[in-house]
Amino acid sequence: MSQDASSVPAAMLTLGVALGDRSYPIHIGPGLVDDGSKLASHLAGRQVMVVTNDTVAEHYLARLTASLPQGLIVETLVLPDGEAHKSLEGVAKIWDALLAVGFNRSATLVALGGGVIGDMVGFAAACYQRGIAFIQVPTTLLSQVDSSVGGKTGVNHPLGKNMIGAFWQPRVVLIDTATLATLPSRELSAGLAEVIKYGLIHDLGFLDWLEAEMAGLRGLDAELLARAIERSCAIKAEIVAQDETEQGVRALLNLGHTFGHAIEAYMGYGAWLHGEAVAAGMLMAADLSHRLGWIEADALERTRRIIQAAGLPVAAPKEMGVEDFLARMRLDKKNLDSRLRLVLLADMGNACVHDETPRDLLEECIAQFPRC
Ligand code: NAD
Ligand code: GLY
Repeated sequence: MSQDASSVPAAMLTLGVALGDRSYPIHIGPGLVDDGSKLASHLAGRQVMVVTNDTVAEHYLARLTASLPQGLIVETLVLPDGEAHKSLEGVAKIWDALLAVGFNRSATLVALGGGVIGDMVGFAAACYQRGIAFIQVPTTLLSQVDSSVGGKTGVNHPLGKNMIGAFWQPRVVLIDTATLATLPSRELSAGLAEVIKYGLIHDLGFLDWLEAEMAGLRGLDAELLARAIERSCAIKAEIVAQDETEQGVRALLNLGHTFGHAIEAYMGYGAWLHGEAVAAGMLMAADLSHRLGWIEADALERTRRIIQAAGLPVAAPKEMGVEDFLARMRLDKKNLDSRLRLVLLADMGNACVHDETPRDLLEECIAQFPRC
């Protein structure tokens, strides 16, 4: 790990996303759900709506609202749980609720939950009365290391993942690491996919560290998880600060996502978790990188081993043929005109965007990739 992996993180630490007048802090530590003062200091006005889902509400909604200072007008909205609800209809429920209580442009939306809630609430905030403030309180590992940072918001379309959306930055990200204690282990593994991604694309030392500590991470060792979250957020913040709207380097954060989004859309949103689809997709990207002669067979095998050690799939769904992948990959947002652009591994710890993959090599890669 290139950033001081040996030091024990303080109870709470703060990173920053440097985006000029839209810069914001990321606070990381246990107990932030119960610290309303951190949230209150970033509100636009007195009107606050906390949006969550029924699963997360049971654990954290009352705690979060109880911690808010007196004098605020606090409303709550509990949506149904699940990726299948990450739709325009789901976001419309947020707008309906805001209008029903007469909230105006000084309102702040708070996203309490995983990436589904965060993406929907962020998009609702981006559009409501042409844009209101929002705050991310991510409660899954995946949302703590990835989706709550960087301002990508949006919803799925039946034909493609995250096809409708906006860039809209939160005012603060409050990562309560203690919320991971209630997260199911399958969801923890899904989050580890995005953590492994940072090692593969940007930081070989971090990948070494993850390999060594995988058992402890899966065993919910709080200190190890805090370090993994800190390093992941630091890498993401650095990349987003360079390229907020993905004109260049930010595309590298999509390693495995072109294949993975195809799996999610084809299998029906929610059948494969986002992190699971990304994990299989990263291995497909590594496989293609090997076929192009960029990484050795042992590097490909190393990628397979770490994904497997995280409890993630190393095969694609047996239902999906080559054309099932290609049809959905053609809709990917990274594509320019009709050229398919893929994030591949130029080397371990170093990703690149490639738009000249020979069609027959890509088809061979997909066809020969193991199925489950
Ligand atoms: P999710 O939001 O569906 O949460 C996973 C499950 O965990 C849900 O059932 C949720 O209710 C439950 N949960 C959440 N916190 C919990 C807790 N502390 N204890 C117990 N259960 C808890 O899924 P996710 O993996 O967090 O996010 C996936 C979504 O994020 C996808 O839609 C993906 O496209 C999106 N995403 C967005 C970005 C971005 O940059 N905006 C990046 C990566 C992923
Ligand atoms: N998760 C990819 C990005 O934020 O760009």
